[in-house]
Amino acid sequence: MAKPRTAYTCTECGGRSSKWQGQCPHCSAWNTLVETVAVPVATRFRTVTGAVADVRTLASVETRAEPRSPTGLEEFDRVLGGGLVPGAVILLGGDPGIGKSTLLLQAMAAIGAARRALYVTGEESPEQIAMRAQRLGLVNAPVELLAEVQLEAIIGAIRTRQPEVVVIDSIQTMYTEALESAPGSVAQVRECAAQLTRLAKQSAITVILVGHVTKEGAIAGPRVLEHIVDTVLYFEGDTHSSFRLVRAIKNRFGAANELGVFAMTERGLKGVANPSALFLSQHAAAVPGSCILATMEGSRPLLVEVQALVDALQGGLARRLAVGLDPQRLALLLAVLHRHGGVETAAFDVFVNAVGGVRISEPAADLAVLASINSSMKNSALNDKSIVFGEVGLAGEIRPVQRGQERLREAAKLGFRRAIIPVGNRPKQAIEGMEIVAVGRIGEALERLRG
Ligand SMILES: Nc1ncnc2c1ncn2[C@@H]1O[C@H](COP(=O)(O)OP(=O)(O)OP(=O)(O)O)[C@@H](O)[C@H]1O
Ligand SMILES: [Mg+2]
Repeated sequence: MAKPRTAYTCTECGGRSSKWQGQCPHCSAWNTLVETVAVPVATRFRTVTGAVADVRTLASVETRAEPRSPTGLEEFDRVLGGGLVPGAVILLGGDPGIGKSTLLLQAMAAIGAARRALYVTGEESPEQIAMRAQRLGLVNAPVELLAEVQLEAIIGAIRTRQPEVVVIDSIQTMYTEALESAPGSVAQVRECAAQLTRLAKQSAITVILVGHVTKEGAIAGPRVLEHIVDTVLYFEGDTHSSFRLVRAIKNRFGAANELGVFAMTERGLKGVANPSALFLSQHAAAVPGSCILATMEGSRPLLVEVQALVDALQGGLARRLAVGLDPQRLALLLAVLHRHGGVETAAFDVFVNAVGGVRISEPAADLAVLASINSSMKNSALNDKSIVFGEVGLAGEIRPVQRGQERLREAAKLGFRRAIIPVGNRPKQAIEGMEIVAVGRIGEALERLRG
């Protein structure tokens, strides 16, 4: 078979060039040309969605309920939106050694009982996988293994074995003969993923791609894969703690921002069914600089301890450091605290931390961050049976956040008795055992927090 011709395509403007150049001849961007297969557009993309390309009205398209097959790992199913969908392509990204292969081997072993599952490994030998399976107690799991890195051979195996679920571990090790670039390059990763996606859509196979996270935190270069696939999951967690979080960043078949919580044990990943109290540290008595935040992770309320340390400046520039929280937002909040709360931090180093390695990106954490900073600064502890949430605006107002009720109910369930929340989140009905303190402005909030 004649080798397909290759060309170079600009990742910025999509323009093509027959040879590699440092600068795109179309949009003049630098270092954006990547190798691609020069097949006619018509054959290349015709069947990506698996649909016949004729124009129809929306109402005439027959829909069917997406049949979902649960993987048997409850926390994994939660992030997937209920289970695996035929034809879906899922990307699982994460830091090295976080547990991607472990999770997928466990999931495949559970799925394998009901449907044919194929695990393609490009990184580890079958012996290594078997050793892991032994440790996890899955030696007799009905999973088919294929140690292969060449895409054409893998696709051939998929066509003959006809599995319903395929794991590719990892997409960075795969290469297609159609391109000359090295495995792991943007061109190879993109082309391999595109071909596997086409196969998934055509044959209604669920494909799970493992992707390594690059230095910059993106999966395989500048987000090349996230657009191609249906679902993007990130595996995160602190390597120093045994807890692992799987987060859905994008999901065409379910809610994004869902969170699955696991504990890494010698026998593999175990789902943590009730994680809301996981990120609270145990203090014998209330300590200054600590505030309990009721946050939402997807559809799930989570209580997290936010800690702050405000320390007199030891010469040089004042340091502002945020771990697990947005550092930009910290600077903004300190300015609001100064202007509207009358608390000056210019002569202090400020450190804030979300306990337990969680990452909180929602603005509902604002009030808790300010409360813990103020508490550390004044060296006075907050009531340890209180929880806090609320967004802080630049004008010093406390703005309501979504799903206030759920946050309050979860806190009440875990024994918290007092909640300092935005006026806009005041619940219509009283929550049993919970005193609600609704605040409208930052000054008022700091005042009431002391009580
Ligand atoms: N005996 C053990 N007891 C407890 N945990 C273990 C044990 N062996 C391995 N682990 C855990 O499994 C992790 C490795 O898991 P795994 O190989 O699935 O990660 P990965 O994300 O696939 O890594 P890579 O990026 O290298 O492919 C280790 O970092 C460790 O936390
Ligand atoms: Mg691995």
